[in-house]
Amino acid sequence: MKNLKLISHPIIKRDLTILRDKNTPSSLFRQTMRRVSILLAFEAARDLKTEKFIVKTPLQKTVGYNLKNKIVLVPILRAGLGLTGGFLDVFSNARVGHIGITRNEHTLEPVDYYFKIPNKIKGSIVYLLDPMLATGGSGSAAIKFLKEHGAQNIRYVSIVASPEGVKKIQKDHPNVKIYSAALDLKLNSKGYILPGLGDAGDRVFGTFE
Ligand code: PRP
Ligand code: URA
Repeated sequence: MKNLKLISHPIIKRDLTILRDKNTPSSLFRQTMRRVSILLAFEAARDLKTEKFIVKTPLQKTVGYNLKNKIVLVPILRAGLGLTGGFLDVFSNARVGHIGITRNEHTLEPVDYYFKIPNKIKGSIVYLLDPMLATGGSGSAAIKFLKEHGAQNIRYVSIVASPEGVKKIQKDHPNVKIYSAALDLKLNSKGYILPGLGDAGDRVFGTFE
């Protein structure tokens, strides 16, 4: 699918299985999501531009590299927080915004309740983090908010995407690239991804018990 980069890696395959398993407790779920997010961050950074500078080793000067663009991470609350720690491990200088959006469980429409992002994000690479891309309503609304606040280079990072969600993001925001560990089969009548991994926010934070 256009604009979709599926990231294939043996460790991601194994970890996705742990995330899908309904018997995985929240502690292991969180730990696994963090590890997957580090791998996703590396892949979603593959084409970033670097700039050279001179660094002094204890022995002599040599060429060093820095990322050219500033990085902004924006998790969609709540489940996107599960990806944030791993992304910060990779992009330790990143600034972090938060977008609070939850789906109305009957209409599946996104309902926004919080928005706080860093100033001056125009030239930054913005990684929008949400493990689940289901109908695409939450992601599309979040991208719209980010664009309204000046974001020009947005990358959407998920763990499990549905064909319906990918199509919606492609239609609403054709200039946003999606990175995902899996493209699943479809949505069920309640808007859950099949086979999916269930409610990601509940599983990250243990709120299903
Ligand atoms: C989940 C998930 C995404 C959204 C995806 O959040 O974390 O944000 O649903 O669904 P969509 O693509 O159909 O919009 P949820 O609404 O359950 O909020 P929560 O994380 O606070 O529980
Ligand atoms: N949100 C989730 O957390 N899981 C789904 O399968 C769909 C939306």
